[in-house]
This record gives sequence, structure tokens and C-alpha cells, in this order.
Amino acid sequence: MSMPRRASAASFTAFGPGKVILLGEHAVVYGEPALAGPLHRGVRAVGVPSRRCELSIPSSVTGSHRRLITSAFRRAARATGQPRVRVSLQSDLPIAMGLGSSAALSVACARVLLEASGRSSSADEVAKVALQMERVFHGTPSGVDHSTSAHARLIHFRGAVGKRAASIRSVASPRPLKLLVALVGERGPTHRLVSALRARERRWPRRYRRLFAELGRLADEGARAVATGDLETLGDLMNVNQGFLSALQLSSPPVEQMVHRLRRAGALGAKLTGAGGSGGAVIGLFLEPEPVVARLGREGIPCFGSQLAGPQAL
Ligand code: MEV
Repeated sequence: MSMPRRASAASFTAFGPGKVILLGEHAVVYGEPALAGPLHRGVRAVGVPSRRCELSIPSSVTGSHRRLITSAFRRAARATGQPRVRVSLQSDLPIAMGLGSSAALSVACARVLLEASGRSSSADEVAKVALQMERVFHGTPSGVDHSTSAHARLIHFRGAVGKRAASIRSVASPRPLKLLVALVGERGPTHRLVSALRARERRWPRRYRRLFAELGRLADEGARAVATGDLETLGDLMNVNQGFLSALQLSSPPVEQMVHRLRRAGALGAKLTGAGGSGGAVIGLFLEPEPVVARLGREGIPCFGSQLAGPQAL
């Protein structure tokens, strides 16, 4: 799935999965670990021969969004030696809802461009090029989004801080790790939420650093819980993580309502995922999410199920 495929003699296709953060968003920006995994939804990039290196963006994408995608693509094109391909994109991932749509786009483009230039398209090489694109979209991302997409595995991620290199460890699950992803309301851009939190952290560094360190510990415990098949503990950790996100003023009434609704529907744990704010994606960990997806869907709630890890995952 994740490696580029030569679709015909001279065309390439690659998939960048979206992502969910199970534990540790925001704290990961401060060097703490996070636990994140790939969705089966994402962005597909197709590259066909062309006289120059170009991206064809649907006319429905306009304004600043279009400018950002164009400038991110130019960066990746320069980094890969401007291979002569025209890249087009298809996505089934909701945009700006905390599901890593820019990272998925970056990974899919990076993979096609690397492959078209005849260079290595290993997950590490793809991640390097995708990071350059992500910096255009988000300024200084922690790297968890595009790393999860590039590796297409459940990972325990810790970003580079000072002289400490980034660490990415794949976490295998003996049990199917299944989520329901529900979409509520609308939210502002990630960088705005990250900057607002940064301002609070600068004002009250000791208290905020203490909370971030605890969030990092939850991610460590979550990785151990997944590896031992203890999904009940993972669910509890997600619930506790949601409490911290709320304490950090990253949650909102529509998000909280959905969290409680998923818990009432039998979720082992439920929380927002990604940057949070006034809306976005809310995830629930279920042993069997399918009936709940069907029920919420009938009630008009946009949602889908995805298996992140374990037997028969992505
Ligand atoms: C966004 O998906 C996750 C955040 O932690 C930002 C980042 O890691 O760069 C909020």
C-alpha cells in the first residue's frame, strides 16, 4: 500500500494515509512522546510524464489554501531535483479536522516525486521531503503527522529536541485496534491553537511543562498497553488524556459532547485528536465500532471506522 507503484511504463501512484493521535498531541511539540497511527483514508497522488514538474490542483481549491499547496509542492520539487511529472491528487480525508490531511498530501507527493526522480522512496526519505512541505503548511510542526503517514504504522514518536535526534518506534498490536472517527463543527488552523498554547506555556512554564511531561507518560504507557493487547488500559489513558486537553483549554462544548456520546455508546475511551479547538475529529476506541458507525450515521453524524493496528490493519 504505502510504497509507490509504477501504474504504467511511466506513471507513478502513491498513497499518504491520514493519521490520528491516540495520545500526546500538543505535548509532542515540547519534545514529549506521542502515540499515533495511520487511517485507511488519505491522499492518493498520481504522477504522469510532463515537460516540467507541476502539480494540478482542482479548481475548487482556492485562495490561501491553493497558494500554500503550490508553495509546499515547489519546495518538494526542488528537493527532489524537479522530475518531469505532472502530479494530481485525490483525497477522501476531511480537511482541517485534525486528521493530518496536509501530512497525507505531503507524503503522497513526496513519494511520487522521489520515485519519478529515481531516488530512494524509503519511509525515511519520504519523511524528509514531506517535512519540508509540512513546514510550509504549519511552520514548525513536531513531525508526528507526516512521520505517521510516511511509516504507515502505529508509532511511538518523539521529535528531535536540541541535540537529541527524533525517535520513531513501531508498536505492534496483538489485537485489532479499531476506532470510530466522528467529525464535529469547524476549527481554526492548527498553528493558531499551537501558538495560543505556547503563549500560556511561556507565561506559566513550570505548570504547563508539568502537564506536558504527564501527557508524555500517558503516551509511553499507551504504547505498552497496545503491545500487550490491553485495549481497556489504552481506553482509560485516552479518557485521561482528554481531561488534560480540556485543562489545557484545547477542547470545547461540541467536542466534549461527542466524547461523552461515544463513551455512552460503549467506547473504551474517547478524546479529541489533533489540535482540538472549537471542533474537529473525535475518536472513540471500540472493540466493534461498525454498529455504532451505522447508528450515528443514521442520526446524521459524519463518522467512519478505521483499524489502526493489529491483525488485518492498513
Ligand atoms: C497536530 O496534528 C498535532 C499537534 O501536536 C501539532 C504538532 O504536533 O505539530 C497539535
